[in-house]
Amino acid sequence: MNKDILKVLVDEKQLDEMTTRLAKEIDNDYFDNSEHVILLAILKGSVVFMGDLMKKLQTPVEIEFMKVSSYGATTKTTGNINIHLDLQRKNIEECDIIIVEDIIDSGRTLSYLVNYLLNKGARSVKTCTLLDKPSRREVEFNPDYSGMKIPDEFVVGYGLDYDEKYRTLPYVGILRPEVYNS
Ligand code: IMP
Ligand code: MG
Repeated sequence: MNKDILKVLVDEKQLDEMTTRLAKEIDNDYFDNSEHVILLAILKGSVVFMGDLMKKLQTPVEIEFMKVSSYGATTKTTGNINIHLDLQRKNIEECDIIIVEDIIDSGRTLSYLVNYLLNKGARSVKTCTLLDKPSRREVEFNPDYSGMKIPDEFVVGYGLDYDEKYRTLPYVGILRPEVYNS
């Protein structure tokens, strides 16, 4: 195990089971109505999750990416959402968008993005998160699809980073607090 990881919170087998279950839930809702279903991954944290999830879907989907930030090299949210890469689609009013996110913390990123995409004209917008820290909410927000609720710990791996590191770990682990407190 990586020396900076205190404990594995979600191992590879659990991640595999979670993505299988989430893909089934999405298929149940979209398979019969799947003309322009868009999986919209929020860069960079959700790329690993998105890659696993999309392979398990029966529903035909298109993929898109947006890059937003609310965090710098810190474990605290700033509350400011900056769009670095926007969604460009001509037929957005025909699109049923599923935002794919790595983790919900304050809830600000996803509540902002859902409104943003509906204002842009999307036909529908739902959200799918791998992890959720409900105890950290600053705005009310409930995802439509959620892999797992976790306690208030800073986690990395399976796409999630601290200061751009640890994204390639195949599991989700709790980062040793010494790493960000030093
Ligand atoms: P929110 O807007 O506060 O809900 O922030 C969500 C974003 O914060 C996620 O997309 C992550 O980029 C980041 N984040 C929140 N908690 C963690 C964590 O424990 N590890 C890594 N990134 C996190
Ligand atoms: Mg993120």
